[in-house]
Amino acid sequence: MKSRTVRKMDLIALADWPASRIERTIALGLEVKAHPERFRDALDRRTLIMIFEKPSLRTRVSFETGVTQMGGHAIYYDMSTSPLASGKESVADMAATLSRYVDVIMARLFDHETIVELARHATVPVINGLTNYVHPTQALADFMTIREKKGGWKGLHLAYFGDSRNNMTHSLLSGCARLGMHMTVACPDREAYQPDPRALRHAQRIASRTGARITVTSDPARAARGADIIYTDSWMSYHIPAEQREARLRDLTPYQVNTALMRLAKPGAIFMNCLPAQRGMEQTAEVIDGPHSVVFDQAENRLHIHKAILLKVLGLV
Ligand code: CP
Ligand code: NVA
Repeated sequence: MKSRTVRKMDLIALADWPASRIERTIALGLEVKAHPERFRDALDRRTLIMIFEKPSLRTRVSFETGVTQMGGHAIYYDMSTSPLASGKESVADMAATLSRYVDVIMARLFDHETIVELARHATVPVINGLTNYVHPTQALADFMTIREKKGGWKGLHLAYFGDSRNNMTHSLLSGCARLGMHMTVACPDREAYQPDPRALRHAQRIASRTGARITVTSDPARAARGADIIYTDSWMSYHIPAEQREARLRDLTPYQVNTALMRLAKPGAIFMNCLPAQRGMEQTAEVIDGPHSVVFDQAENRLHIHKAILLKVLGLV
């Protein structure tokens, strides 16, 4: 009898996941959060490797804790110590080798192409823990948080402010389009700050089927008016060189989320930031520490959604 090839499931970009899988994973995240005891042995004797080329607090600690809580083991691997980093090994050989040891790989890398290649050559599932291009695990935690705070997604309006040639912007665009949420991106009218055209076009194509409206504007007030969710992200992402700081402060200050901008949103609007955050830059302290802010709920939900993602890609649910 001919053997059947079972395709493995990766999470490289939210754009690759159909809405039904996104919705089921978030439902599982909510179940894991409500009943962690049901999953306490789910990863018995399984190993996750976590490869990091960039800094991390939330992604590293929430993945490692999540695996521990489900009875598995997580290895932190600093990419700078790898043979790959010193040019002595290829991505393909690294992927093939790791696939002989561990059950699942999570990687935080600079170039998106590297994680695509890693996933192509790995025979175990690969999860993207952030690249310069996208940040899908964070976006899933964010849509879980929106579901908790707003009861759903369809027809809601998310307004995003600031640096938009940005991994969070791109993942939120994909997720909003898939889930039928309207998204307005407010950023300077310059290519360096606007969403990558590939991410934007892809989101717009999906949105035309799901009824989501995707808009890019240079007018922050227009974006904020009537929004249900106000979202911002760092102006100095991990891959942005320090010498760009002054120019970015100058260009992005009109897009800072402050109390005046929050007042334009719906009265019950929530404020989101994936963190890390700089008070006085992408938002004021008054906003991030104020009553609309749900940033630590977002951070907490990384733990629950990562458990759900692991269960899903490992085919354990
Ligand atoms: N939001 C997020 O991914 O945080 P870390 O960079 O701390 O992992
Ligand atoms: N855009 C940010 C997200 C941090 C979680 C960065 O890439 O640094």
